[in-house]
Amino acid sequence: MAIIMTQNQKLLTWVDEIATLCKPDNIYWCDGSQEEYDNMIDLMVNGGTAIRLNNEKKPNSILVKSDPADVARVEDRTFICSENGADAGPNNNWYNPSEMREKLNGFFDGCMQGRTMYVIPFSMGPLGSDKSKIGVEITDSPYVVANMRIMARMGKAALDVLGNDGDFIPCVHSVGYPLVNREDKTWPCDPENRYIVHYPETREIWSYGSGYGGNALLGKKCLALRIASVIARDEGSLAEHMLIMKLTSPEGESKYICGAFPSACGKTNLAMLKPTLPGWKVETIGDDIAWLKFGEDGRLYAINPEAGFFGVAPNTSAETNPNAMASLQENCIFTNVGLTEDGDVWWEEMTNELPEKLTDWKNNPWTPDSENTAAHPNARFTAPASQCPVIAPEWEDPKGVPIDAILVGGRRATNVPLIHEAFSWQHGTFMGSIIASEKTAAADGKIGELRRDPMAMLPFCGYNMGDYFAHWLKVGKADGAKMPKVFYVNWFRKNGAGKFIWPGFGDNSRVLKWVFERCNDSADAVETPVGFLPTKEALDLNGLEIADKDLNELLSIDAASWLEEVPSMREHLEKFGDRMPQELLDELDGIESRLKAEA
Ligand code: GTP
Ligand code: SPV
Ligand code: MN
Repeated sequence: MAIIMTQNQKLLTWVDEIATLCKPDNIYWCDGSQEEYDNMIDLMVNGGTAIRLNNEKKPNSILVKSDPADVARVEDRTFICSENGADAGPNNNWYNPSEMREKLNGFFDGCMQGRTMYVIPFSMGPLGSDKSKIGVEITDSPYVVANMRIMARMGKAALDVLGNDGDFIPCVHSVGYPLVNREDKTWPCDPENRYIVHYPETREIWSYGSGYGGNALLGKKCLALRIASVIARDEGSLAEHMLIMKLTSPEGESKYICGAFPSACGKTNLAMLKPTLPGWKVETIGDDIAWLKFGEDGRLYAINPEAGFFGVAPNTSAETNPNAMASLQENCIFTNVGLTEDGDVWWEEMTNELPEKLTDWKNNPWTPDSENTAAHPNARFTAPASQCPVIAPEWEDPKGVPIDAILVGGRRATNVPLIHEAFSWQHGTFMGSIIASEKTAAADGKIGELRRDPMAMLPFCGYNMGDYFAHWLKVGKADGAKMPKVFYVNWFRKNGAGKFIWPGFGDNSRVLKWVFERCNDSADAVETPVGFLPTKEALDLNGLEIADKDLNELLSIDAASWLEEVPSMREHLEKFGDRMPQELLDELDGIESRLKAEA
């Protein structure tokens, strides 16, 4: 069925052009209906890509297993093709745009032979909001179509917003497996030739060879972060890798908080946390991406551009994240998790009791004695945000929500305390600029290695990060700006035996309470060389058993070990050369001299 639902000439011409290049057998325009979604699921089930889960256990849900060579974002295959290499910066892989176009033309030529080309109009952000952006993704993957329907406002409604002369961000995706003299695979891809390419100046996205997550759902990291960060720089706004939550006190006062943590470092968990502190309430606005713009009152207002969660499955359980578990009981796509005997899903730590046997993510028999895990560490669920029991009523408010505090943080076994507060926006920008985190399975590469991931945007900033830091500073100096307070958190401190010393998850509400009270100037803090820390009394530890030794470690700064880290911070910041704003180097000098005075 190829009913064309638009008269937008730019769109029609572009679709024609891409079809001429990719040579699909058919073209299908997605309307976003339930019927269409069901057809995509049928296609995947009939072709062996998906298994329908037991309808009693997980109604209307499927399990998909990817090629084991295509399981996460591929950062070394992700490119920013600005005209000038310096504009991509040392944080990105740069490639000359015209050479890249030529190279990609070769790969895309005929790449959809034997397949259907799907045209997916989508809105990132609530339909019709002046903060939203329209994209159109062309893909040859029904898996992408189904995921995009959950993750974005997709189909006819987005086309209606686009209208006859509206503009859109073009996104071209192919799994890179044309059906020429060969059978299809259950997860077609071309792992040897993956290219996730962005042209920031012309605002275009081209992705080849992968079907997984951020590599293929182009509205997410490619549009809503890499391209949107470039647009935000030009507009004086921010596009960030941040959760957005609403925190309400027992007295009924609410604050909105954003949080930037690197991939697989706790955004989804914090966004829908179930507080252990009585009377406190957390509601979700978004779990991965925030677009922030000034309102007339000088405050930053955030919207969540997405409509669903593409969340990390392993370790998600009724104990750690009951609201995520409740969100994924129906209408979900599970990717690379285990399949139980009774047609349900399972992953590591989902339940205390292990299933006796199941089929693992690689389709092999699995028992608790197996050496490998049942789910891939970057296995994911795709779930509609509307299914989250604590989704905030205002989550789709086109105005966005006014942000009181921004948390930044990462995974640090040592050194970094549970929380410390910035002295100023400039200092907060510095804190974000030196975030270091142990690498996770969300991207290809070595797990556990420490790397600096500024603002959790290292893989997602579409331009030179030196300029990005300067942009943060400039935003903070905007006329009449009332900036949020900035805090650096670390839930991942470990003891000598390698065990987490902070319980995390619901108990992070204790830290959130302190943040809330600091925003109201009603909680105590001690000033240290690196920021304000809560006093032991200011952190509500009621009902929590924690050893004094651990608490001391969580709430103190060891000047000597911080000093040891200063050279690596300096080296990191100096990588950005003359694009690096002097103010942040000054912040580092200030910290160093205060630490020296203390040590
Ligand atoms: P992306 O979707 O990749 O951007 O990840 P995310 O930042 O949303 O991370 P998520 O909330 O999915 O958490 C990733 C992993 O960290 C999961 O295995 C969680 O169980 C674990 N995690 C999250 N919060 C905490 C915490 O407070 N303490 C501990 N120890 N682990 C946590
Ligand atoms: C991340 O890696 O930060 C994710 C998953 O949120 S993906 O959509 O694959 O980028
Ligand atoms: Mn993410």
